[in-house]
Amino acid sequence: MSEKRVLLVIGGGIAAYKSLELIRLLAKANVRARAILTTAGAQFVTPLSVGALSGDKVYQDLFDLTAEAEMGHIELSRSADLVVVAPATADLMAKAANGLANDLASTTLLATDKKVLMAPAMNVRMWEHSATRRNFARLQADGVHFVGPDQGDMACGEYGYGRLAEPEAIRDAILALLSDGPLKGKRALVTAGPTIEAIDPVRFLSNRSSGKQGYAIAAALAELGAEVTLVSGPTNLAAPAGVKRVSVESADQMLRACEKSLPVDVAICVAAVADWRPALTASEKIKKGKNSAPAIALAENPDILATLSKPGKKRPKLVIGFAAETNDVEANARAKIAKKGCDWIVANDVSGDVMGGDENEVLLIRRDGAEAWPRTSKAEVAKRIAAAVTKELGGKARERK
Ligand code: CTP
Repeated sequence: MSEKRVLLVIGGGIAAYKSLELIRLLAKANVRARAILTTAGAQFVTPLSVGALSGDKVYQDLFDLTAEAEMGHIELSRSADLVVVAPATADLMAKAANGLANDLASTTLLATDKKVLMAPAMNVRMWEHSATRRNFARLQADGVHFVGPDQGDMACGEYGYGRLAEPEAIRDAILALLSDGPLKGKRALVTAGPTIEAIDPVRFLSNRSSGKQGYAIAAALAELGAEVTLVSGPTNLAAPAGVKRVSVESADQMLRACEKSLPVDVAICVAAVADWRPALTASEKIKKGKNSAPAIALAENPDILATLSKPGKKRPKLVIGFAAETNDVEANARAKIAKKGCDWIVANDVSGDVMGGDENEVLLIRRDGAEAWPRTSKAEVAKRIAAAVTKELGGKARERK
């Protein structure tokens, strides 16, 4: 990779020392980091140590006239390929989510037109506070990318989510976002996870999908440089680095989010969309009452794969579905290509432990042929699918062994 530049905003948290290691790892990967150190950040690491590692001036004050004359805050982000915030404190996230601009870091985040990657780090209660949840969701919707936070012991003696991702993981997320991969310039849509269909405010219909395969595909496409939107039902998974995640619950919401993400070059429907939803969702919790169990009338959900496959101006060049089958896998999957109008089907036999597991054994079925892949990890299946997509879209797929 030719030399790239990141603008690294170092926020004030005990994890700030890890940003020094990050600068070193980036330098090894031929990425130059220029740093903005917030006032709070300077309580944890010194400008001298940051500057010594970055080999550059460290920017600290919005109102420093000399610094502003040398390199204005707008120019600071313009001269970078990517803006990284590590550690991203609750305060920095709140400012960025609300468009506040009252210091150099927040002003730069508001002024930048570059991709932004945040690596949050804070106490678990701060991370779980509804205000931070709101800010996190808003930043994701604004297209900010995230890596971490991790789960583990914290400096404050508590345990939970809030630890800064390891410097290696932050470096990898940065490299993925800076990637000049063969899918650069291509847009991809991936659906993943289950959908949940409300019966009343506390009950729902759903299925056992973990989202692992869809998330792995989104990550593999992003790694090859694609701009990926991941429309996901509820899962326990973190959004992969460099991927824009849109969180939804029902099939209806999933369809709307998918349509909003168009146009894309490739759409891959991995989600286990509930085929039916309760025809009526009760606005209040259904009481047991004295009579027999209530009957739930069902209505059919929209078929997202079939909708995306419909011929028209917005149809992605390549539409790929998944088929979860327990018998006659190839024949059933072929029938699905015909029924839904997609181009390829990735068929898997879900009679074993595939759903929720870490491995998958699939058949890639095109209209004119089929390839059986040996049982392997979902991550490897994802990489093979991403390589096949790259070939189909005319990118240069690296040979996979
Ligand atoms: N799919 C979808 N929207 C739906 C149902 C399914 O987008 N409402 C997509 C899935 O994401 C998957 C493909 O369609 O890519 C196949 O889903 P599957 O559940 O295997 O097939 P069904 O269409 O539900 O058919 P059946 O249950 O009869 O096997």
